Amino acid sequence: MKPIEIKPGIYWVGVIDWAIRDFHGYVTKNGTTYNNYLVMDDEVTLLDTVKHDFDATAVENIRRVVDPYKIKNIVINHIEPDHASSIAAIMEYAPDATIFITERGKKGLDRHFDTSRWKFRIVKSGDTLKTGKYTLTFLETPMLHWPDSMVTYIPEAKLLISQDAFGQHMASAARFDDEFFSCHSQFELDDAIVDYYANILMPFGKLIEAKIQEIVKLGLEIDMIAPDHGIIWRKDPGYIIQRYLDLAKGKADLAAVIIYDTMWHSTELMSDPIMNGIKDEGVPCKVIKLRSTSMSEAIKEFWRARGCLIGTPTINNVMFPSVAEFLYHLAGLRPKDRIVGGFGSYGWGGGAVKEAYAKFQQMGLEAVEPGLQVLYKPSAEDMDRCYEFGRDFAKRLKEYHGKFQAV
Ligand SMILES: Cc1cc2nc3c(=O)[nH]c(=O)nc-3n(C[C@H](O)[C@H](O)[C@H](O)COP(=O)(O)O)c2cc1C
Ligand SMILES: [Fe+2]
Ligand SMILES: [Fe+2]
Repeated sequence: MKPIEIKPGIYWVGVIDWAIRDFHGYVTKNGTTYNNYLVMDDEVTLLDTVKHDFDATAVENIRRVVDPYKIKNIVINHIEPDHASSIAAIMEYAPDATIFITERGKKGLDRHFDTSRWKFRIVKSGDTLKTGKYTLTFLETPMLHWPDSMVTYIPEAKLLISQDAFGQHMASAARFDDEFFSCHSQFELDDAIVDYYANILMPFGKLIEAKIQEIVKLGLEIDMIAPDHGIIWRKDPGYIIQRYLDLAKGKADLAAVIIYDTMWHSTELMSDPIMNGIKDEGVPCKVIKLRSTSMSEAIKEFWRARGCLIGTPTINNVMFPSVAEFLYHLAGLRPKDRIVGGFGSYGWGGGAVKEAYAKFQQMGLEAVEPGLQVLYKPSAEDMDRCYEFGRDFAKRLKEYHGKFQAV
């Protein structure tokens, strides 16, 4: 792939992965990119690598700018294999390079590769690497989103290489934010941002807020943010910072999403009048059937909306497996500031809706009690109850959402 000069002497040498649809279980419907960067200075320095599948392309991309043997330093901001697994291929061409990495990064890298012959320099926040006219300044960002993570700031270029932060899974001909709209819409951009944030970064909202404040306090001048996935922010880096702050603070749309599954359609039948009740209260509502939708899509829609209703039939006294899986996964993402409720059909003892509420409580989410259960197929009266349930939920949602608007 053709390298692109993003700042004088600093090149994007990344890879566009048009085909990937399963990124460790996360459905990347638009593919992704693995961005890495080459600093052509007195000391040639590579910032991050790409995914092992693209070893040959990674080396070829570098070769289009410089003989890889000339690489003096390699910065590994994050050891996850999508960014660090080409390191072995690169080290074959640049065996004398020094790897700049955090202490925890080194420990993790040692678990993936035989590093015994590689040279390392362990770095901490504030440490620098002078490559010539550029100074690479490292800033650790532990648990954003792995313990080893850091970002690299280059003051002379006002450039932040932000690693996974501010990224999106989006294969595109566009490399920069200002090019994006020639091939995509604003909706696609925001969808990709929320999708990435919800699925990867949701648990770390507090840390993200604190790290952004720290960067603001340091007074770093930033006119370009170059993440390791998706587009590079050069026209308006402030946009993505503000969007992240909003997402980190739990900002949501005044909207609802119904996430359900069903065996014999009774729970599904309930969804329809519930949706109408919500809509008639003036609250936009999406409906997602779990077995027809990827988990990552459902997680994104959950995070976009202020309120969520979970629909599940009872199977063997418990929730339907796809719903249980969704809530189990969601709990790990530690959602906050959302209002939820549950409904579903059952045949005899029930139990699924109760179980869903136990999960809501475990997550500490505001739950509209007691939920709605219907015996087998909903009757006409049941459908009316569903409609009222939807209306009541929407009223509570609006009230709840208002609290966030007030502050
Ligand atoms: C394999 C299976 C196991 C079930 N186990 C229970 C159960 O333990 N308790 C219960 O109340 N209903 C149980 N049911 C009945 C369903 O909850 C009932 O048929 C319900 O209407 C299904 O809703 P749905 O059409 O949305 O799938 C079970 C149904 C099936 C097919
Ligand atoms: Fe990562
Ligand atoms: Fe990544």
